[in-house]
Order: sequence, then C-alpha cells, then structure tokens
Amino acid sequence: MVASRDKWGSKFGFIMAAAGSAVGLGNIWRFPYVAGQNGGGAFVFVYVLCVILIGAPLLFNEMALGRHTGKNPIGAFRDTGSNNFFTITGAILSLLISFFVLSYYGVIAGWTIGYIYSQLAGIRLDFDVFMANGPLNIGLFAIFMLITILIVRGGISGGIEKAVKILMPLLFVLVGAVIVRSLTLDGAMAGVEYYLIPDFSKINGRVVLSALGQAFFSLSVGWGIMITYGSYLPKKENIVSSGLWVAFMDTGVALLGGLMIFPAVFAFGKMPDQGPTLVFKVLPEVFNSIPSGGGIIGAIFFLLLCIAALTSSISMLEVPASYFIDEKKWSRNKASWVVGLLVFLVGIPSSISNGAVDSLTNMRITVFETELVGFFNWMDYFFGTFFIVIVALMTSIYTGWMIKVSIMIQEIGEGGPGNWQKPLIGSLTAAKIWAFFIRYICPAIILMVLLNMMGLF
Ligand code: PFF
Repeated sequence: MVASRDKWGSKFGFIMAAAGSAVGLGNIWRFPYVAGQNGGGAFVFVYVLCVILIGAPLLFNEMALGRHTGKNPIGAFRDTGSNNFFTITGAILSLLISFFVLSYYGVIAGWTIGYIYSQLAGIRLDFDVFMANGPLNIGLFAIFMLITILIVRGGISGGIEKAVKILMPLLFVLVGAVIVRSLTLDGAMAGVEYYLIPDFSKINGRVVLSALGQAFFSLSVGWGIMITYGSYLPKKENIVSSGLWVAFMDTGVALLGGLMIFPAVFAFGKMPDQGPTLVFKVLPEVFNSIPSGGGIIGAIFFLLLCIAALTSSISMLEVPASYFIDEKKWSRNKASWVVGLLVFLVGIPSSISNGAVDSLTNMRITVFETELVGFFNWMDYFFGTFFIVIVALMTSIYTGWMIKVSIMIQEIGEGGPGNWQKPLIGSLTAAKIWAFFIRYICPAIILMVLLNMMGLF
C-alpha cells in the first residue's frame, strides 16, 4: 500500500497493509477448498504446523531483507551480493508469481462481483452455468482489474487504508455470523468433525505440499511482497511482533473460513473435495437458508470478500509494477496500466476455462500423481503452489547461507523485540533459534516435501 518509496506512518499502518495483503481470497476461497481436497482435519493440522514452523520464520526473513536493503525483491537480492541463480529463482520468479497468480485471482474476484449482484437481486445463480458464461466472466474480471489498476496507479491513498481498517473487522464479524448459521444447520456436526478431527492416516506428501503451498499463498510469503513492504518499514518498528500479528490474523481468518464452510458442506450434502468452486456453491445456500434478509447479508458478505480480494490484488500488482518504477524508471501510471493490462490478457484463458471453452476446461496433465484438469487449475498448481514453494526454499537458502545470517539477525533485532538476543535457556537466544530454522529446518523440510512429491523417496 505504498505510493512512493517512503516509510509507513505507523506500525499499525504497516500491519494493516501487510494483513490486507495476506487476508484475501486465499483464506476464504482457497483454504477451504484445498482443505477439502486434502482430507479436512489432517490438512488443517499440517497447515497450522507449516505456518508456525516455516511460514512465520520466513515472514520475518522477508521483512528483514526488505528493510535492510530498502529495495524491491530484485534490488534486495542484488544489493546483498546475489548471483544470477539466486536472483532468478528467489527474486525474478517471485515477480512472475505475483503476475501470474493475479491473472486468475482476478477471475475469482470477478465471481464475487457477480455474486454481490445476484444476492441483491435475489437471483439464484446456477454456479456451473455462471462459470461457463465466457463474456460475463471476462467482463467481471475486467471490472475487477480496472479497479485494481486505478488504485495502484493513484498510489494507495489514505482512503483505502482507512477503509480497510473498518472493513476488515466487519468481515470478521460477518464471518462469525455465517459460522453461527452454518453450525446451526441440520447435519452440521459431520462437517465440524471432518474439519477439526484429524485423521492422521490421510497425511502424505501431497497433503504436506498443499499445506505448505497454502501457508505461503495465504501469508503472502514467497512472492516478494513482504520484501517490498518491509523496505518501507522504519528501523524503529518491531519485525517480530508485526510478523506475528500478520500470521495470527491471517491464520485466524482462514480457520474461521473453514468453520464457516464445512458444516454447511455436510448439511447440504455436498462433496468437500470438489475444488475451486466449493465456496461459491455452498455459501449462497447458507444465505438462502436464512429466513429473512439472507440476500442482503449475502450481498454484504460478497462485497467484503471482494474488498479483501482487492487489498490483496493491489499488492500483487504493486510488486511487478514497483520493479518497473524503481529499476526501469517508468512512471507509476505507465507501470500500472502496462502490467495490469498484461495481467488481464494472460488471465483471459483462466476466465474461460471453467466451462466456456472445452479445450481449456478439459486440458489434463498429471504432475507427480496429481491430476490437473483445466487451464485454471494448472495455473493454480504451478504458480499458486509449486513455484511459491521454490521461491521460499531459495530465499531461505539465500539469506541463511549466502549472506551473513548475523546481518539478518541484527536487522530483525532493530526496533525490538528486546529479548531477541538475550539468552533464554543456557546460551540459546530467540535469534539463534530463528537462524537455525532459516538455515536448517525451513530448507530441509521444504526440500523433503518437494522430493517426496516428486516420488524420489
Ligand atoms: N495472501 C493473499 C490471499 O490469501 O488471498 C494472496 C496474496 C496477495 C499473496 C498478495 C501475495 C500477495 F502479494
């Protein structure tokens, strides 16, 4: 949420901007469907572990790298002496991820716009028919991208930041209300069980990879965004507590998102593993089941979801756009329009691959025993999971091994926390534990997950 390379006004502003980026469709649309495809409770369990053990240390790491260099991801890698290999796999790839994910993220956000209208107008959408309407999907996607471009182009004004501070808590309240409705439906308990009681026998390489990918997707880790946002963070601010707040809020909304969906999935006799359409098929049923005013509540809900998507899409466009502004000296206007329009063009196949165009809808590929059907799902798998995990791996190896880890420790220590370098047990400090995670635990676990998924052990 930054117009020029200046500093955040307050820690609260930074946290809200970073949380605005983190909390988005990933929490309410993606988390439930990925959990549903990966066994419910078992996935949730692995997910929370991934956030705590890998996501949070990497979040501090990216914020610190950004603040240390004051640069966009490519500049940050270059300024710390990176070679081409790490610059490509850690920084350039992260810009491409933001670009390509936005190209289908905007399509989903377009669906939320369609639903705001249908809820208000009292139209019961048949989601399969809605998705298969190519021109409508392209149109809604175009509207969403236009709003994103206009905001990034104008710099992110205080207005949006102020609005987000009110709208995000409101989203929380509404999610809470929908949870109450879901939980009180007949047959809801089967969903609660599915969601909260882990069946550990369901955990395998694919589940762990999905959980890890989802944690990075949701926390906005591995996209360069936290490097960029960290570059605007004053030295006096506390990276650890800010990062923990972001992780906490993001995970909280995701977990509540699941609690909102799964009871209803079971109550309405739907399949939890139906993929990206899950939330859009289930939520309208929940709103319809509210005796009066369900349409209005539904419309407000989708409006807030659309705004949550917008605060995320802005930051996704901001990353590649700020690269052209910083490094290629483009004007903000030019960068926003050129990158935004390119995203739109690249996103058109995604918007017509849910029934509108057969060849795009049915294209199939099997990657490491996971069958992907349709262009949209290919994009979500490669850019939304696989490459993000690669970037996260490379960033942790880079900062843990290629630059002095003491530099990062010092950077995180600036502005607190006070006990960062104080011995906790014996000579063990929080800083040392963090460094151990970045150097050993994070790369080792990510690597193991990748190798396991590739069938190498
Ligand atoms: N974290 C966002 C979500 O969960 O919807 C997605 C995202 C937005 C990731 C912006 C990265 C980013 F820069």
